[in-house]
Amino acid sequence: MNTIFAKVDINNPNLSILKKAADIIKKGGLVVFPTETVYGLGANALDEKAVEKIFIAKKRPSDNPIIAHISDIGELSSLVSEITPIHKKIIENFWPGPLTLLFNKKDSVPPIVSAGLPTITVRFPSHPVARKLIELSGIPIAAPSANLSGRPSPTNAQHVIEDLNGRVDIIIDGGPTTFGLESTVVDILNNPPRILRNGAVSIEEIRKILPNVIDGTKILNNNSPISPGMKYRHYAPRAKVILLDSKNLVQNIQNYLKENLLNKKEASLIALKPLNHLTIQQNIYKDINEMSIHLFDAFRKMDHENKKVIFVQKPAARGIGKAVLDRLEKASA
Ligand code: TXA
Ligand code: MG
Repeated sequence: MNTIFAKVDINNPNLSILKKAADIIKKGGLVVFPTETVYGLGANALDEKAVEKIFIAKKRPSDNPIIAHISDIGELSSLVSEITPIHKKIIENFWPGPLTLLFNKKDSVPPIVSAGLPTITVRFPSHPVARKLIELSGIPIAAPSANLSGRPSPTNAQHVIEDLNGRVDIIIDGGPTTFGLESTVVDILNNPPRILRNGAVSIEEIRKILPNVIDGTKILNNNSPISPGMKYRHYAPRAKVILLDSKNLVQNIQNYLKENLLNKKEASLIALKPLNHLTIQQNIYKDINEMSIHLFDAFRKMDHENKKVIFVQKPAARGIGKAVLDRLEKASA
């Protein structure tokens, strides 16, 4: 397939490009578009054949459900069977934005979207290009992250080209994304409500609205996480990721290099403070926020540099740090 590539100015997007992309969606094709979290690989959520193409293009396991994206609260009723008062409260506080909500699915939505589950996740992105594209399409857009399954989510169009060039109809380039991490997925159908995936909105922020929300990401049901996507190895660069505590960091890195007969050029470090007396490449971010924005990009860059091992200083599990830590733990698993 010949993939069209189109750059847009996100503050003033070229409408003819977005109309063309919306036509592709309406005709059952695949459109990669920017959102405020990561790039999405979109298709008509109400067209089974179109959604099937998503699974093929990104080699996604068929038991992993997909988020439906809307650009207007009114569109919810085409996807979900019930909107509870708690749904409404979350929507009022977090939409549009990087929070995805779980609902009971309407029977008319093709089962492939939710991988056969009775529930469906819905997200109302705040990104102007994503919103305009959904609006012009006039239908909800099913969209996972626009990476090949298992690879880090794409935070710029170059990442998408690496993974999906020739596998999709069009890639809309809106520059680097704002958050650099995926949305937070919240299940309020359960009591107590729980987070299915930590993401761009922290649990602390959600607690202000839903005081009894818990982190459900480590809960197991028949030995499997409650959200299907969490069971796969994810976010992974080709290099081995090694998570280390701050204590004795330099010593532990030097020991590892020695024991594994690794050349200094084959290793890289991701941390919040530069380490003296360590001569491997260092990627230092000024705070956890900066690290979260650039983490996936750093993983991909290190793959291009043929790094064999990436040491990461373990971030504290609070605020956005929790989402970063979850991804690092998956990447190092
Ligand atoms: O920020 C984001 O959420 C991005 C952008 C493109 O919107 N999308 C994204 O989609 O990250 P994806 O498919 O890469 O991740 C969706 C996650 C998966 O872990 C999936 O298993 C979970 O949400 N999920 C989707 N529908 C679900 C459902 N009905 N029940 C439980 N988990 C669900
Ligand atoms: Mg994904």
